Amino acid sequence: MTDVSTTIAGVKFPSCFMNAAGALCVTREELVSLGQSQAGGIVTKSMTIEARQGNPEPRYYGFPGGSINSMGLPNLGYRAYAEMIPELKRFGKPVVASVSGLCEEDFPVIAAAINAAQPDLIEVNLSCPNIPGKPQIGYDPEASERIIKRVRPLITVPMGLKLPPYFDPAHHAVMGEVIGRCGVDFLNMINSVGNGLVVDPEREAVVIKPKGGFGGLGGKIIKPVALANVRAFYKFFEGKIPIIGTGGVVDGVDAFEHFLCGASAVQVGTVLVEEGLEVFGRLETELTEILKNKGYRSIEDFRGAVKEL
Ligand code: SIN
Repeated sequence: MTDVSTTIAGVKFPSCFMNAAGALCVTREELVSLGQSQAGGIVTKSMTIEARQGNPEPRYYGFPGGSINSMGLPNLGYRAYAEMIPELKRFGKPVVASVSGLCEEDFPVIAAAINAAQPDLIEVNLSCPNIPGKPQIGYDPEASERIIKRVRPLITVPMGLKLPPYFDPAHHAVMGEVIGRCGVDFLNMINSVGNGLVVDPEREAVVIKPKGGFGGLGGKIIKPVALANVRAFYKFFEGKIPIIGTGGVVDGVDAFEHFLCGASAVQVGTVLVEEGLEVFGRLETELTEILKNKGYRSIEDFRGAVKEL
């Protein structure tokens, strides 16, 4: 019997596939639909103090191999998600609340209120690239450490960090040290590859409106960056901090590669937006087939076991 369930920081997920914060998870209807789907968990949109409309449209553009977005954290505000959490928990799969903020002071306010609603896990988003004038916190180790240390004592459920992609081993090491000092229960990497630019040569124009067309890249094209970050942090922590691999998962093989690099679960963004909720069934079938063919019974049989040459 092939088993694609997984466990993150002691919390059991019936399937290792779930949505990435941001993909079809803003409204109550979308979150309920995730609950009714084959997704292994329900991840909320990253929430701010007040509800936000987000950036002007067009703010998402899909192209062969990927996507670019600059949504600007459209969300209902933390109070609405706190109210919804008990209802969402009734679907019998973990609810992951994604906490964000527009300034450092927002994080503890939201973290305390959301923790009181007792989602199964809380993910602290340090990596939104799309708020004009607000750099990604995860690229500032001191600010990251201040925020993590402020929210850590307020959170009693497993607490994770959603990280941006890092591109140099020195940055993996610096952030690894910060994380090691702060008592983090799980990691989720990577957020979109921030501040890419996609140009339509026909129209001789950028494809999204905010920030002059700059936005976060997602989809298949970012998979090698995602795998590198999963692998780097898996090795840094010697596999002791569970990792959710996000970035470039479009089919079962992509997920298999994330697990080989050390991920314990994967999240999907671009492919979920493009394909809809049926994607979870397809991914589960494809991964199950791969595991069967290779003689693995579960993800734990090969997690982190990618061979180096
Ligand atoms: C957005 O809302 O702009 C995306 C959120 C994120 O990348 O964290």
